[in-house]
Amino acid sequence: MSAVEHGGAARGWLELSANLNPCGPPDVVEEAVAGAGWSAYADLETAEPEQRLAADAHVDASCVLLTAGATEGLRLVAHVFIGSGDRAVVLGPTYGEYARLAGLRNATVREIRASAPEFAPPIGALLEAVVTERPAVAFICDPNNPTGAVLERSELLRIRDAVRAATVLVVDQSFGSFAPESVAAPELIDDPQVVLVRSLTKVLASPGLRLGYVLAHPATIAALRAVRDPWSVSAHACATARVASWRLSPAALVTISTWRTRLSDSLCELGFGPVPSAAPFLLVHVGSRAEQIVRSLGERRIAVRWCASFGLPDHVRIAVRPPTEQDLLIAALRALQADLRT
Ligand SMILES: Cc1ncc(COP(=O)(O)O)c(C=O)c1O
Repeated sequence: MSAVEHGGAARGWLELSANLNPCGPPDVVEEAVAGAGWSAYADLETAEPEQRLAADAHVDASCVLLTAGATEGLRLVAHVFIGSGDRAVVLGPTYGEYARLAGLRNATVREIRASAPEFAPPIGALLEAVVTERPAVAFICDPNNPTGAVLERSELLRIRDAVRAATVLVVDQSFGSFAPESVAAPELIDDPQVVLVRSLTKVLASPGLRLGYVLAHPATIAALRAVRDPWSVSAHACATARVASWRLSPAALVTISTWRTRLSDSLCELGFGPVPSAAPFLLVHVGSRAEQIVRSLGERRIAVRWCASFGLPDHVRIAVRPPTEQDLLIAALRALQADLRT
């Protein structure tokens, strides 16, 4: 896979293509990983970390399944709930895994797509598709990657009510730690048709750990647990889950919001068009030279994400990072603009 199209930076680069907590990993992660052994299998039984995550989410432990990242949670959901010939609906433009996983299950995928420049989620069209097409699964990413859009409480509840019985509503909350929850998890998963998929790799800034979990009704969790591979979650990830929280402190939320506003203002000053975001990244309209800009930044060892694979070839996605790193990006963009003018 190309770094320009799918992000990911080499060591020593300024990494603005991956969307991790810009405050960095909390100390507990390093301590937990250091204390975990690699010479024995991880616990087959994941009840202990699940109890911890359940308390963190204010739900019963029977509502939690520990997974190897949100990635495993999404795969299990597709495996259990999507059959050959089914329909799946995706609220786009969004993370490509939902369509890929549904495609692997031989489902027909329909994307209901938000439009530039604001990318407001087209809830009316989604509700209509859910009601008329009765898909097996509807995937929503909240906050959404790559737009950063977050659903309002009333919108999420309207979607939940529309899917009752016929459709499983999968809400990928991998970036939910960065936006205070509009609807609390217990209220959502009270409905057996709702599945929340969460990543801990973003909030803990530790993507190599492969750590996530699913929150759902106990019957749904049991069905997913039955198809999870043994030891899929590593000993290091299990140890981290025992001490981790999906929630960010109020101070961290303020810091990230301040940094996001700073980045957005700087990009506006350069004449680019950042989209309002509740996530630790900004979708930015840079025009038809987007690929050229991404490649030129790459020559300066700065990685940002070209959004062509999301069907947005005139946009890039830029991670919110601390001010010193932002300044390096802005200086490079300013130099590029000067080069492009000459
Ligand atoms: C929306 C979304 N969901 C899930 C994932 C995968 O998360 P994890 O690293 O926990 O598997 C990503 C990774 O970029 C993502 O953007």
